Amino acid sequence: MVERQSRTHGALMGTHAKVRIDVMIEPDLHAVASIAASSRIGEDLLREELARPWSRTWVAREEDGASPLPVAFIVAWHVADELHVLNVTTRTDRRRRGIGRALMETAVAYGREKRVKQVLLEVRRSNHAAIALYRTMGFFATRLRPRYYPDDEDAVEMLLLLDPQTGEILPRDDEVRLDS
Ligand SMILES: CC(C)(COP(=O)(O)OP(=O)(O)OC[C@H]1O[C@@H](n2cnc3c(N)ncnc32)[C@H](O)[C@@H]1OP(=O)(O)O)[C@@H](O)C(=O)NCCC(=O)NCCS
Repeated sequence: MVERQSRTHGALMGTHAKVRIDVMIEPDLHAVASIAASSRIGEDLLREELARPWSRTWVAREEDGASPLPVAFIVAWHVADELHVLNVTTRTDRRRRGIGRALMETAVAYGREKRVKQVLLEVRRSNHAAIALYRTMGFFATRLRPRYYPDDEDAVEMLLLLDPQTGEILPRDDEVRLDS
């Protein structure tokens, strides 16, 4: 069972949104599916996600927004000593306000609490925005997975290593080059 979690991420800069992070619940699914429209994650798939015992899902809501609807979400799987981030997406008109980072920090904080050894993810090689976000958090590239996506684009596998005792991030350099 995932603990109900509600955390507020305050403004770091004037342009940053003040968001509340909650565990995703059934009434959020319609809004989350519309945020994810471009990645073809529909409500049914999200419903299946909520039912998986190993799935961890959070949404971000704007604290001062007119509507409490989610503006971003993250889905991760907690399996053994690893947390695998499957998707993090911010609504197009709410990007670059610190919301994606707030969700990633929530996932990493959960991983720390559960003493996972690593947070893992795959990202499109061309997705410079996401790669930049992951790098600022301490992720490094471990390998390329050629033609991983249905349109044949390569995936970059990225890892954040945590000391399970202290939760400290163990920094490492890239193990593969991304610039070729
Ligand atoms: C990747 C994504 C989730 C980032 O969400 P966001 O809410 O805009 O991210 P943040 O505002 O928290 O950005 C945090 C940091 O990431 C980096 N970043 C984010 N967008 C960037 C961009 N377009 N170009 C370069 N760096 C970027 C920056 O370092 C940024 O910090 P800064 O704004 O202080 O410079 C968002 O672009 C998105 O939804 N993309 C489509 C879905 C996707 O590709 N998801 C990831 C793969 S599953």
